[in-house]
Amino acid sequence: MRTDEPILRIEDLAVYFKTIDGDAKVLDGVDISIHKGEVVALVGETGCGKSVTGKTILGSLPIPPAKIVRGRCFFKGKDLLSLDKDERREIISNNISYVPQDPMTSLNPVFTIGEQMLALIRWHGKKRAGLRAFLGRYNKRDDSWGKAIELLNKVKIPSPEMILNRYPVELSGGMRQRVLIAMSLIGNPSLLIADEPTTALDVTIQKGIIELIKEKVEEENLSVLYITHNLGVARKLSDRIYVMYAGNIVETAKTSELLDSPLHPYTQGLIKSIPKLTGEEFRGIDGRIPDYIYPPSGCRFHPRCDRAIEKCSMEKPKLLRIKDSHSVACHIYSYKEVTSVIDERSDITG
Ligand SMILES: Nc1ncnc2c1ncn2[C@@H]1O[C@H](COP(=O)(O)OP(=O)(O)OP(=O)(O)O)[C@@H](O)[C@H]1O
Ligand SMILES: [Mg+2]
Repeated sequence: MRTDEPILRIEDLAVYFKTIDGDAKVLDGVDISIHKGEVVALVGETGCGKSVTGKTILGSLPIPPAKIVRGRCFFKGKDLLSLDKDERREIISNNISYVPQDPMTSLNPVFTIGEQMLALIRWHGKKRAGLRAFLGRYNKRDDSWGKAIELLNKVKIPSPEMILNRYPVELSGGMRQRVLIAMSLIGNPSLLIADEPTTALDVTIQKGIIELIKEKVEEENLSVLYITHNLGVARKLSDRIYVMYAGNIVETAKTSELLDSPLHPYTQGLIKSIPKLTGEEFRGIDGRIPDYIYPPSGCRFHPRCDRAIEKCSMEKPKLLRIKDSHSVACHIYSYKEVTSVIDERSDITG
């Protein structure tokens, strides 16, 4: 079991969205820890709250309608949620990078790729600059252009010089995503939050991006929260997986352990629903993510679970540690195989 303090520790995070019909109770007590140099994948069906989790860490939730109802989010020991806006922004901009889910809307359409990359390289981490400093720096010939080209080369963008002079609208979705990945590596972050960064890319480019992230992890001891619904990508990249269902972490384990011996009926269903190249029949999970305004009582998965027992509709299951690094939140494991109950939220990762 690891004893070092995680670089990121989310505890009991609950996030609601105000709607005209009532509060949508999206995140319902999420716990996630990431250690230095560790790649953690957050997986789950569409709408289960993965991006909301990422945005909460980054402080980019729209408040309102979002409200953080409870929870803490420690980054290097400091609770980001309790800091004032400026302090939080400074910590985040100097340490945490983000690759957003939507490459179409994440680049400014009125500036060229070069202008956007150079601005980030020159001004990364700086709180504010006076006009004189800005103009002085802006006109100065420095190595920013070379650095931008180097970054674009790393994400395997052909003819980077030409791309730097293009506007986002002139690039394909995959190219834009690679530009965003290149930009996320500016400033040597200690934590990278990547939200489905390879979804828009074909498999060869996807492989290249995964290798690039792995390289960064090894070279710079980067920690990564990799959000995806692709278990194949999670297998290739991550050390550990958190499975999220309807705003709850239902299972976490080392990647190979989780994929080879899944315990939660939801995880088992997710793995079974991966289409097989052999043409073997695959089954999805019946039903869909619940309505967050009126979520099911007890375990939010129970209406879709074919192994549900009476208790499942009455009581929310706790995350139980079954093995050293394997925990599951499911009542069917309450009475058997359990070696310890995780009641202290300080260490759920093993
Ligand atoms: N600004 C918002 N206002 C209201 N509801 C929101 C808002 N942002 C997210 N939600 C709701 O929160 C829930 C979780 O959304 P989230 O984007 O985190 O899903 P996800 O797991 O990232 O899904 P996907 O795999 O499709 O990206 C959804 O029901 C969504 O409608
Ligand atoms: Mg998302």
